[in-house]
Amino acid sequence: MATTKTRPKGKRSSKSSPKDQPRVERGEVVRKKKKDKKEKRKKKKGKRTFTAKTADRHELYQFAVQSPDEDVKFLERVYRTYRKKQARHFREDFCGTGLLTSTWIQRHKENTAEGFDIDPEVLAWGVDRNFAPLGEVASRARLHMKDVREPSTTPPDIRSAQNFSYFIFKERRELLEYCKAAYEDLAEDGIFVMDIYGGPETMEVMEEVRKVDEGFTYVWDQDEYWPATGDFQAYIHFRFKDGTELKKAFSYPWRLWSLTEVIDVLKDAGFPKVETYWEGTDKNGVDGNGVYRKSKKGENCLSWVTYLIAVK
Ligand SMILES: C[S@@+](CC[C@H](N)C(=O)[O-])C[C@H]1O[C@@H](n2cnc3c(N)ncnc32)[C@H](O)[C@@H]1O
Repeated sequence: MATTKTRPKGKRSSKSSPKDQPRVERGEVVRKKKKDKKEKRKKKKGKRTFTAKTADRHELYQFAVQSPDEDVKFLERVYRTYRKKQARHFREDFCGTGLLTSTWIQRHKENTAEGFDIDPEVLAWGVDRNFAPLGEVASRARLHMKDVREPSTTPPDIRSAQNFSYFIFKERRELLEYCKAAYEDLAEDGIFVMDIYGGPETMEVMEEVRKVDEGFTYVWDQDEYWPATGDFQAYIHFRFKDGTELKKAFSYPWRLWSLTEVIDVLKDAGFPKVETYWEGTDKNGVDGNGVYRKSKKGENCLSWVTYLIAVK
């Protein structure tokens, strides 16, 4: 996931020396394609006006935080790297509006998918906005209003938990229960993909403010962090050109899990192999470039967003 996509800032390095770069292995994955100038100009022309009164928080979230086309390409490539074939059945945990599920089924006529979320409001929004317009194609997806620890209808080739949503589990036994359920539910040659967010900056009380191409400002507000427990409270606010603001549009009462903790849990859940993919550095030497490569060492940045690939 690259800096323009992720909820928090994503990669921010402190100008590390070449010695500190991760050891790159086979399996390069390009996750984000930078928008070219023409594309940017086109977006600017057709801009809508958002205000706190009229804006829809789910729509703003999708614009600010998600890039489903790049995500799907990443998932396909990673699966091909391990399994040398195409994945067809996909499961999106914590699916929210189901944007990734909807993108997956549109990508190929044989693709099928399931999405899991416990919130009826967000699922209903997704059905209306992300599935109804697809007509017959939508019949290849099934949304479940269920806990992510519940089994799938069909064992998935790829199961994914994006945007750190599993941070909702505050106890190790809950995270383990979830990862065990994922292991048992996957197809025999399935993979489980989780993203994770870390680095020293993630433990600071701070705000990241970013202008979104569609014409509003996104704020990732790290409001609280308790080092004794890992408890972490963040919010998303949206600010508009007319000076209005949608404050606390989304709230995240999480535990900030460390990468090594999650790897240990995945291994305890039964996954024999867990590998991590790290983002490369942009020409400016500070930001991420959207290119993810497998690395054993990682990179010691101020903040980073990394993928965990758990292979069954
Ligand atoms: C941060 S949003 C993720 C939205 C989207 N998948 C994304 O990647 O941006 C987290 C979602 O997880 C859902 N959720 C929280 N706990 C859950 C659980 N135990 N089982 C299923 N869904 C859950 C919430 O309703 C919410 O829609």
